[in-house]
Amino acid sequence: MPPGVAACAAPLQPLTNRVRSTGQELRNRMKRLIRVGVLGCGYWGPLLIRNFRSLADCRLKIVCDLDVARLKHACAMYSDLETVTAPERVIEGTDIDAVVIATPVKTHYPLAKASLLAGKHTFIEKPMAASSAECEELIDIARRKGLILMVDHTFLYSAPVRKIAEIVQAGDLGEIRYVNSRRLNLGLFQKDINVAWDLAPHDISIILHILGEFPIAVNCQGNAHVSPGVEDVTNMSLFFPHKRFATIQSSWLEPRKIREMTIVGSQRMIVYDDLQTREKIRIYDVRVVRPPHYDTFAEFHYSYHYGDSYIPHLQQEEPLNLACKHFIECIEMNSPPITGGRHGLEMIKVLEGASASLKMNGAPFTFDGRNGTDLISVQSNGARYAPRQRRTPKTTRNARLLVRGVA
Ligand SMILES: NC(=O)c1ccc[n+]([C@@H]2O[C@H](COP(=O)([O-])OP(=O)(O)OC[C@H]3O[C@@H](n4cnc5c(N)ncnc54)[C@H](O)[C@@H]3O)[C@@H](O)[C@H]2O)c1
Repeated sequence: MPPGVAACAAPLQPLTNRVRSTGQELRNRMKRLIRVGVLGCGYWGPLLIRNFRSLADCRLKIVCDLDVARLKHACAMYSDLETVTAPERVIEGTDIDAVVIATPVKTHYPLAKASLLAGKHTFIEKPMAASSAECEELIDIARRKGLILMVDHTFLYSAPVRKIAEIVQAGDLGEIRYVNSRRLNLGLFQKDINVAWDLAPHDISIILHILGEFPIAVNCQGNAHVSPGVEDVTNMSLFFPHKRFATIQSSWLEPRKIREMTIVGSQRMIVYDDLQTREKIRIYDVRVVRPPHYDTFAEFHYSYHYGDSYIPHLQQEEPLNLACKHFIECIEMNSPPITGGRHGLEMIKVLEGASASLKMNGAPFTFDGRNGTDLISVQSNGARYAPRQRRTPKTTRNARLLVRGVA
């Protein structure tokens, strides 16, 4: 082959494809960008601003905060931002298609309600609202108006959690026995919500997603050491059918930052450490098998199985970016979000149950109105919460969360 020919020999794209892609490009250019307004520019708002600005299919039009200093901070980062102190300007703006709410929790409901009533697709930061009644009203308005309502349960868009869910649903861990999660650090103290409402939503969303069902009961203990009435340390337990349970420890008073979750299955176990940069999840091929019979303690030891551990490869993508992108795609496709209003509502039901238990000094709160003592007795003799036909892990793949009164 004469010199130079190889360089020209790249296969030509067939003409029809070129025409098609040019047409597609034109359509993309003509497609109207989704115009987004962000409410709240405190700690989390700027991250949402950055991510919505990075998306090709949307245009971040305007940012609102009641605090002028926060708006100055946003303008220092992005000089072309339009900023306002009146949320109505965003909510009622005829040049806005979607509103993103990153304000304190008690303001989520009034802002989201106004946004939906004004015909705007609405993205609400976790936790969705201050009560399940508020969530139900928002879900109803969004349904009646045919609008997208999405709640930012960010971790469900993260690569480690998606990988864990995939492994669990494939049945690789065997039967899940329990999940243990710790989310601890020093601060950031919130004024309007306790640490369970601030930090535990991440763990709850992951646990409900992995287990694919809603708990029977929750209990929660905690203490307010710094701000009276606002618990800064809580320990929560969620009880699921088939004796499965999950524990969630949340604290704003821990000297070290910890973000760890262990998922213990009958065949394998996973340790998920979100603070690791590369090796966020490690799968351990370990289990304990009870021998049919043993005579000595030494023989009992043989029932432990120690196998290999391995670290699956994870795609490095920013979960919040994927969540923002998903919201825009749901608007474009008119499709329900992975974390829609009902997911937000399920979370709030768990948090309300945890708050009720806190008030009862940690007595279990059951989701079907049964009292805690009753729950403990029926759990121990198995009579009323007798396990239903156990599903194989494969069939949990498409399991819907079972929420009494919600599903
Ligand atoms: N998904 C996550 O991982 C994640 C992480 C952190 C925070 N959050 C959530 O984001 C939300 C905000 O948290 P934050 O830590 O940024 O709080 P923050 O207090 O730092 O910021 C809230 C901002 O909202 C402004 N604000 C209050 N009322 C307003 C109103 N009516 N209109 C416009 N602005 C208003 C305040 O002036 C403040 O600047 C909370 O719901 C929180 O749970 C989510």
